[in-house]
Amino acid sequence: MSRREVVAVPGVEPAVPAGADDALIRPVDPEVDPADLADEVRLRPRRLEEFLGQAQLTEHLEIVLEAARRRQQPVDHLLFAGPPGLGKTSLAGIVAAEMGVGLRITSGPALVRTGDLAAILTDLQHGDVLFIDEIHRLPRPVEEVLYPAMEDFQLDILIGKGPTARSIRLDLPRFTLVGATTRTGLLTGPLRDRFGFLGRLDLYAPDDLQGIVTRAAGILGVEVAAEGAWQIAARARGTPRIANRLLRRVRDYVEVRAEGAITAELAFEGLEMFGVDALGLDKVDRAILDALCRRFDGQPVGLVTLAQCIGEETETVEDAYEPYLLQQGLLMRTPRGRVATARAFDHLGMADPRTGPVTGAATLW
Ligand SMILES: Nc1ncnc2c1ncn2[C@@H]1O[C@H](COP(=O)(O)OP(=O)(O)OP(=O)(O)O)[C@@H](O)[C@H]1O
Ligand SMILES: [Mg+2]
Repeated sequence: MSRREVVAVPGVEPAVPAGADDALIRPVDPEVDPADLADEVRLRPRRLEEFLGQAQLTEHLEIVLEAARRRQQPVDHLLFAGPPGLGKTSLAGIVAAEMGVGLRITSGPALVRTGDLAAILTDLQHGDVLFIDEIHRLPRPVEEVLYPAMEDFQLDILIGKGPTARSIRLDLPRFTLVGATTRTGLLTGPLRDRFGFLGRLDLYAPDDLQGIVTRAAGILGVEVAAEGAWQIAARARGTPRIANRLLRRVRDYVEVRAEGAITAELAFEGLEMFGVDALGLDKVDRAILDALCRRFDGQPVGLVTLAQCIGEETETVEDAYEPYLLQQGLLMRTPRGRVATARAFDHLGMADPRTGPVTGAATLW
């Protein structure tokens, strides 16, 4: 049976997987300008050596890849977890490039039916990397098809319905599944256990981000002084995607209002003009702090209530916003709920009703 015939089996609905390029430049945020999106693709690190920061993770990954190369075997399945914009998709591309194999990209929510996954799996070549973004959002029946595929490189498909239904088993090429998730907590145990390597991405330190800004400026042909890159890095919420976005805004500012390199002063002015505050907090971060400090007077607030207050999904608050607020010591998680810290009140220029008057201005980093 040829691979194409397999996906046309009655009862199994084939689906055309999203093209790799489409998926790579898939807008993350509907407000993102298409030119920025194209830049994001240009700025994406292609090889491990271009991937800055996350030293421990890249060291481990290098060993895993090198060992697979020496054994001339496909890499074990890899799972990358961490907040948005830290480089999970980039790493999937890097794994494929470093191993010299093909890359197929899809995502949990795109794989609606088991047939969607069967169509992709049966179309893979030996060694290919299959990247499933947001893998925690795979529907359960699809996830169950993935288990034997990951473990034994076999695909079980059900033909027909009701009492006459029968299952057939097909061999798949050995492939590498790379999964990305913003929530390891939401992954089922059986799925998590089938990955041979779990790479957790943490928010980046400012000096790593400074390196990322400098690299991106080189690719975009923008001259940036070391202190200018530092100013941008310090307000990037520990996130390379944000660092690159701030760089592009400062570049716009310097092109229109000044000339020459991005100095510390110009970076500072540009960032101020675009309303990026000293800690790099965005509108939603500030809304969260405002709710905690002003509306709830520093008392503990449940996550669901907090999310409703600011009109965001609980998942978004937990995955995309909390990690940075926690890292900055602006928010605490307690058994009774989320609580603003004294530093949060300071940052908003408010007196902390729990202790008394303002103690001083927020310090940078
Ligand atoms: N370590 C890094 N070095 C240099 N640039 C990086 C690094 N990590 C991420 N970037 C930049 O940040 C951008 C976003 O990274 P990427 O799309 O890989 O993040 P992600 O974790 O997949 O995000 P999401 O969860 O939103 O899908 C990339 O286009 C790239 O320019
Ligand atoms: Mg991604």
